[in-house]
Amino acid sequence: MYTLQDIAELLSLRGEEAQALRRKAHQTKLREIGDKVYLRGLIELSNRCAKDCFYCGIRRSNSCVNRYTLTPGEVLQAADFAHKAGFGSIVLQSGERQDEAFVSLVEQLVRDIMKQSGGELGITLSLGEQSEETYRRWYDAGAIRYLLRIETSNPALYARLHPADHRFEERADCLNRLRRIGYYVGSGIMIGLPFQSTEQVARDLLFLRDSGVDMVGMGPYLEHEQTPLWEYRHLIPQKEERYELNLNALAVLRLLMPKINIAATTAMGTLKSKGRQEALYTAANVIMPNITPMEHRKDYFLYQNKICINDAVQDSLDNISQVIQEAGGKISLFEQGNPLR
Ligand code: 5AD
Repeated sequence: MYTLQDIAELLSLRGEEAQALRRKAHQTKLREIGDKVYLRGLIELSNRCAKDCFYCGIRRSNSCVNRYTLTPGEVLQAADFAHKAGFGSIVLQSGERQDEAFVSLVEQLVRDIMKQSGGELGITLSLGEQSEETYRRWYDAGAIRYLLRIETSNPALYARLHPADHRFEERADCLNRLRRIGYYVGSGIMIGLPFQSTEQVARDLLFLRDSGVDMVGMGPYLEHEQTPLWEYRHLIPQKEERYELNLNALAVLRLLMPKINIAATTAMGTLKSKGRQEALYTAANVIMPNITPMEHRKDYFLYQNKICINDAVQDSLDNISQVIQEAGGKISLFEQGNPLR
């Protein structure tokens, strides 16, 4: 059993000791779930967002964003590509909207993707906070997994990162709703935020363990000039430091939750060119290649320098296979790769 103190110490390891921690996590992963890496084709459905999170580039108040919503035809085409290429599953992600037009658009898309793929494509949604009824409609349409990051498990820090009407309790309750309905639930955090201590990251890892999530996506916080947090960029750890902390956090999470699905995030690949490889080697077993139609990618700009925006090759199947191979993993094709419960 790892205590808060143990975890904080592990997170602080650097150099050879950090390497040893990461090798131990790697061994644990191989022993518990093997070397397969599952693909989730990421479709960024829309950058319209009702939320105003202080860190996020597509927040409502950012008037510089060119807003778009993919047409159903574009979404179905991307899903069909993923299905035929053997991706096994897709993630539909979007800015948050709760209006009926959006809810029913998603419901219909899920139905159509299920139909088009003969039920073979696993559908994950990442569409923010919703009512229990909405989550149920989407589940009944055929979505089986849902990603909703808690961002931080500390309500006071959450309050510094969001406007007053974005409530930590609501976010946490959404995770309960999803669980009740029967989704595989994924959550996660950002690492290297202003006002965030290493001990806080340790607490977050224990929160993720105790909430019993099936999947985790966590990556470095990255600055964006058109957001309120930009002003506090002098308070965030240096790039290298953020990177080391992230890899250690991934390693510890794998030790705490040996069987869950862990994503090698785009943010890790943005922070360092081999970031996704190192995340896969250390702990991750899932990668989410971006399959959003090229002309819209530049508008889903959550943070600066995001990869795969101009370069289709970066997230092509060939390149992803290469990334996985460099990490010593085996690409899994034509499998949904649902988390082990
Ligand atoms: N840096 C890193 N991650 C970010 N996200 C949003 N903005 C940023 C940023 N500036 C992450 C959040 C959100 C996910 C979709 O993207 O964790 O849940």
